[in-house]
Order: sequence, then structure tokens, then C-alpha cells
Amino acid sequence: MIEGMLSRPRRNRKSAAMRGLVQENHLGSQDLMYPLFVMDGSGKKEEIPSMPGIHRFSIDLMLKEMESCMNLGLKAFILFPAVEDSLKDKVASYSYDKGNFYLKALRKAKENFPEVVIATDVAMDPYSSDGHDGVVENGEILNDKSLPILARMTLAQAETGVDIIGPSDMMDGRVSYIREELDDQGFESVSIMSYTAKYASAFYGPFRDALESAPKFGDKKTYQMNPANKREAILEAEMDESEGADILMVKPAMAYMDVIHSLREESNLPIAAYNVSGEYAMVKAAAEKGWIEEKKVVPEILLGFKRAGADIILTYFAKQMAEYWQK
Ligand code: PBG
Repeated sequence: MIEGMLSRPRRNRKSAAMRGLVQENHLGSQDLMYPLFVMDGSGKKEEIPSMPGIHRFSIDLMLKEMESCMNLGLKAFILFPAVEDSLKDKVASYSYDKGNFYLKALRKAKENFPEVVIATDVAMDPYSSDGHDGVVENGEILNDKSLPILARMTLAQAETGVDIIGPSDMMDGRVSYIREELDDQGFESVSIMSYTAKYASAFYGPFRDALESAPKFGDKKTYQMNPANKREAILEAEMDESEGADILMVKPAMAYMDVIHSLREESNLPIAAYNVSGEYAMVKAAAEKGWIEEKKVVPEILLGFKRAGADIILTYFAKQMAEYWQK
């Protein structure tokens, strides 16, 4: 006996069953949302070089992919469009064009799988010849001129029957602007998952490869947040909450666990963490070299998001995790 040592935390770790009883956080397929990249055409599937295992799909193959994910237990998807350069312009008019393949993909996804949650992305960058999330004039990204375009895009997406609209543009006031527009048009049951604390991050590189959506000049620092700031994330969260957001998102996730935690403490809304493309690519690259054990590292990272306070995790690892769980 060691004098005075009455507490021994190791007692609660003595067996797998004991550890199971005292486990504080759990991860399951119901927590995950799987991002899918969609492109026009049919029978097309292209791997994204900087994101091994992740593809751009034409609509027919996207539906097949969704089905195979659903068979593994996944129930939520967020779709992103890879738009041809020739369809891009300064005001992202293709985003609400009736012939837009992305809108068709959203509609087909809901028609084929009404029971799953489908989320969208609202921002101008995939459709903008400037590669920015808002309207560009004289090298400036204009806030208030972007709002009506974002609202038009939102309505076009809502009409397809989707569950969640995901504004990722970081324009001020866009949550209330699109909430009012949705409600005016009778879409009061369509949810808004706001990219509340979206940082100007270098971790989005592979995603921009996937969509060929990198800014044509400058960076996104006048609208996306400074990675050095946390109080500002709380301010954004308070605004989004008062503007009618249903879910608040932090993005990226791995280098921003403290922000996830702070928003969890500050708000009673569900918190989503977006485990972004660069975070995925880092793990894949290290695993490919045999430097880390992917099968163990991935759940450790995702559980970290839960521990920090995330309810929903958007991750490119979703399908792979669902496969691990099936085995
Ligand atoms: C578009 C958007 C981006 C991401 C999601 N929506 C890129 C950006 O803002 O430049 C990044 C997602 C990822 O890296 O996985 N506004």
C-alpha cells in the first residue's frame, strides 16, 4: 500500500468492458454527414488526386454511391457541384439556372432516397468566374450585392426538396436574409446549417482542386475569419443564432477544437464540425507512407470532435468509418 493514494483512475481502465462502462463520448454513423462532389454528364467517376478515395460523380453514379453508403448505415449527405469553367460568370447565374445539373442532383437524391438528410452548399465560388464567394467589383468582395444572389441560389435549392441549406459564403447578414426569403416562399421547414465560424484556411486546398474553384486573385481574408481569433467566432455564433440558424458549424475542425468547444458552451443549438479536405489529405498521405495507422487515427480524430462538443461531423472519412463499423 502506498500511503495516502486512495484514488487510482486505472481501476476504471482495467478491462475493455470496464472502459466501455465509463466511456464519455461515442461515435456512430448517425453523427456523420458525407460530402459528395457532383458533376454533369453520366457514367463519370473521377478520383480527386489530392483526396485519395474521394471522387467527383455524375448524377447516376452519385445515386449509386449514396445507395452503397446507405447500406453501410449513413443517413446524411452534403452535395457540392463541380461546374465547368464555361458556365461561370461574375454573378454566378448558373447557380439558379433551371438547367443546372446540381439542382437536378439534389432533386434526384431526394426523390430516390426521401429518408436521408440532404444538405446543400450556398456560396458563389463554384459558379463564379472570379472564384470568390461573393460579387467582385474593383477587386472588392461586396457583401450586400451578394445577398440577393445567395438568396436566389437558396430558393432554387429549396425547390428541389432538400432538408438543409448550408450557407458557406461568410457574408454578413446572410442567415436572416435567406431565412426570410425561405419563409416568404413557404419553405419554413427547410433548415439552415450556417458555416458560422469559417476560417480563411489553407486546409481547403484539395477541395478547391476538386471543384476547380480557387480564387482567381487574392484570398478570402476579407470575409472568412482570421485563424487567430476565437471571440469573433462567438460573435458570429450569436448573430447566426439570432438570425434563425438551426445548426452552427465550425470549419476547419482539427486545428479549431477550442472553437468547437466554445460554441458548444455558448449556444444550445447543435454544433457541426467540418473535417475539411486538407485534414483528410494529411491523414491519407501519412497513412500511405505507413507513418500512421489510419484505422486507429481516424476514429481518434472524429471522437476528438465529439469530445470538443460537436454533434454533427462532416467528414470525407464517413464511408470508410461506416465500413469499419460493419466489419
Ligand atoms: C465554398 C466551400 C469551401 C469548402 C466548403 N464550401 C471552400 C472555400 O471556402 O474556399 C471547403 C471544404 C473542404 O475543404 O473540405 N465556399
